[in-house]
Amino acid sequence: MNREDFLMYQDDLIYLDSGATTLKPKVLADTISEYYNHYSANAHRGDYDISLKVDALYEKTRYLVSNFINANVNEVAFTNNATDSLSKIVWGFFEDYLEEGDEVLLTKAEHASNILPWFELAKRKGIVVKYIPLNEDLKVTLENVQNSITPRTQVISLAHVTNVVGDIRPIKEITELAHHNNILVVCDGAQSVPHQKIDVKDLDVDFMAFSAHKMCGPTGLGVLYGKEKYLKQFRPLIVGGGMNSSFEFDGTVVYHEIPQFFEAGTPNIAAVIGFGAVIEYLENIGMERILKMEQELRAYAIQRLKEVPDIILYNEHSESGIVTFNIRDIFAQDLAIYLNKYRICVRAGNHCAKILKDDLGIKNTCRMSLYFYNTKEEIDTLVEVLKNPKMKEEII
Ligand code: ALA
Repeated sequence: MNREDFLMYQDDLIYLDSGATTLKPKVLADTISEYYNHYSANAHRGDYDISLKVDALYEKTRYLVSNFINANVNEVAFTNNATDSLSKIVWGFFEDYLEEGDEVLLTKAEHASNILPWFELAKRKGIVVKYIPLNEDLKVTLENVQNSITPRTQVISLAHVTNVVGDIRPIKEITELAHHNNILVVCDGAQSVPHQKIDVKDLDVDFMAFSAHKMCGPTGLGVLYGKEKYLKQFRPLIVGGGMNSSFEFDGTVVYHEIPQFFEAGTPNIAAVIGFGAVIEYLENIGMERILKMEQELRAYAIQRLKEVPDIILYNEHSESGIVTFNIRDIFAQDLAIYLNKYRICVRAGNHCAKILKDDLGIKNTCRMSLYFYNTKEEIDTLVEVLKNPKMKEEII
């Protein structure tokens, strides 16, 4: 649906890589171009009309984002991307919060951005990284979470939807269990916030991270959500203009309150204003409709892909628009290059989930990731191309 909003469809393209980044509706470039061409003043620094307009639109986006995820407006800080948000959460909060020997629970299906900062913290502070075992469908169960908790567990850090398995985790129930044991929860929402209605109050997660570019928005912009009581305990990670109220020659400094505390320097104003337009765009379509559309497409894709000879589906029983597969005896990247000949875009590789291979049984896979603008006809074309009896010859 809404394909007419995406100029990239004027090229004959089958885009099945929205997990990497989504296509952008025209309204994004129009809004950004309007800012650069007609009122490109700085934010929070001027007393003249165009600067005040920038301030109003910048803060309007924060308001729209907070509404979108049901957060309080001061609990939404802009960052560079979800990776940046997750690193900031680890270094700005957990480095002080955790002590040597404390344990963090992850899974082997997490993205690098939710594993590497914890590894670094383990090196620096002696915290212990542990993994919640995945079940046979590569999913997280409450039972496995419960069994992984020890008296030293202080934080559970999980993707809401993983970028390879595409399973929707029971984050609300996990958080309930975690809080019952005085454990904090960090949620990587990069693959969930774009695809379903998220209510951080209902999920009750303590922190959430996501990126604008995976939800029709601009690259270079992310969101760090945290409960106010925790955001207020962050140490300043990046300091400078825009985040301090005053400083004296003797080193006395007063920083702004959250969320400005997190936004030192001139921010990515164009991206923030563009993201505001995109949030309105998604709200107009409706997140429930987006989810329903993706679920329909997913069910159709699974049904049709099963017709492909020698296909191996790795996540048949997942719920999101992410479908991960291989064709027996074909290297994943060769398959992606073959599909590219037919202008079909999928991602091949380990998808930044480099230790999932232990549970998945293979290092590299092809991944199609759907969004509301995809169609059943595109899936049909993919299936026909994969069923081509000459495919193996064409690849070799
Ligand atoms: N994290 C992005 C993906 O899964 C880039 O493709």
